[in-house]
Amino acid sequence: MKTALIILAAGKGTRMNSDLPKVLHPIAGEPMLIHAIEAGSTLDPDHSVVVAGYGVKDVRAATLAHDPDIKIVEQEKQLGTAHAVAQARDALKGFDGMALVLYGDTPFIRSETLERMRDALSQSDVVVLGFEAVDPARYGRLVMDGQQLDRIVEFKDASDEERMITLCNSGVVACKSDLLFDLIDAVDNKNASEEYYLTDIVEIARSRGLTATAVTCDEWETVGINSRAELAKAEADFQARARAALLEDGVTLTAPETVFLARDTVIGRDSLIEPNVVFGPGVTVESGVKVRAFSHLEGCHVSRGSIVGPYARLRPGAELAEHVKIGNFVEIKNAQIAEGAKVNHLSYIGDATIGAEANIGAGTITCNYDGVMKHHTHIGAGAFIGSNTMLIAPVSIGAGALTGSGSVITSDVEPDALALSRAPQVEKPGMARKMFEMLKAKKAKQQRGS
Ligand code: UD1
Ligand code: CA
Repeated sequence: MKTALIILAAGKGTRMNSDLPKVLHPIAGEPMLIHAIEAGSTLDPDHSVVVAGYGVKDVRAATLAHDPDIKIVEQEKQLGTAHAVAQARDALKGFDGMALVLYGDTPFIRSETLERMRDALSQSDVVVLGFEAVDPARYGRLVMDGQQLDRIVEFKDASDEERMITLCNSGVVACKSDLLFDLIDAVDNKNASEEYYLTDIVEIARSRGLTATAVTCDEWETVGINSRAELAKAEADFQARARAALLEDGVTLTAPETVFLARDTVIGRDSLIEPNVVFGPGVTVESGVKVRAFSHLEGCHVSRGSIVGPYARLRPGAELAEHVKIGNFVEIKNAQIAEGAKVNHLSYIGDATIGAEANIGAGTITCNYDGVMKHHTHIGAGAFIGSNTMLIAPVSIGAGALTGSGSVITSDVEPDALALSRAPQVEKPGMARKMFEMLKAKKAKQQRGS
């Protein structure tokens, strides 16, 4: 069955006390909305529709930056979850398949759970994701009759007896798309909140002789975020799970609680991550890599056997081949570093290609930016860049070439050539002693004078 995701994200999130729409607050370096979208993406959806309202401009920009194929529809007034879903109707016109409703502020639903919901939809007209709540608090309650879900009652509208139910509504709903919009048409707002409740579709479906059921998952998957405190807790929980998963996968974390991971961090077996390393989005690390303490990696790839850090920064587009060494206080951005190359100390390598076994001396800088445009630097295999070389891009250093320390390289260097561009050294015998005597005399005169 084809799949369409409808992700509700119109809420302001008043309790966040923020100008940023709630769903754009980050967990593991990415908006929680992106986590929700990605949870559904493993179902390989044909359409994804985000229902935005508060901060629609920002929500649109963040969503499209992540995936330009996602449709954004606007819900101008938040009249309830059913009304929110109804906004996706036009975007899904002609779509024949399962519509899955997710919440943008509920970032942790596992793909396996969503797959179970899709499977359950072959037996039932409406499938709701429920969970056994430790503290059911103000969640909607699932009123079951054996395997059948009879209705969902919101806490505000529930009787004392219904409030005793601990099986709660996560909010995630699966239903054939046509039927979903059909059922929503019948939803009214005659309830304690005067909202159009999506949850009402269950009772409406049952009254039409259709079937509904609940699939259940662990409570942590359904956690919604409403405040900064809940955001911090969600981050901590996410990190704890991500670290545990890496340990399970055969990665050594010397001090797991000090390593921060992104949703999509991939680290190969027998890699070692030292304390205080931060992974931003888009990092893949192959096996047998050592990432030393206090390094920051983002949007980069590190191949087998490489060593990074301590205190290294790999920015988006950094591609390290096998057995590369990136040392302390080195920043790499949008650069391919070929096998066995070394950039060991205090360097900036940006918009560059570095050949195999090249050695980049301490303090080397690729001057890639002229204030308006970025330019490329190429360094051939086996080249040796002397310490404190400034490479004024665009520039190319041939294979096996050498640049003298302190050189400012403005034009291309042939393979195997030595390029030097620094003022020649002059030496004046006895001059140092004379200068000091002069200065001391001057100081003595000043002190007498005062
Ligand atoms: C909803 C469910 C409740 C469930 C709970 C789980 C309904 C009526 N109730 O309640 O059964 O236990 O979630 O967290 O569905 N939204 C919009 N537009 C709207 C209203 C909401 O986009 O007009 C979005 C919100 O931004 C949020 C999500 O839908 O992401 C849920 O809305 P919220 O108002 O938080 O629903 P709850 O009252 O928590
Ligand atoms: Ca909520």
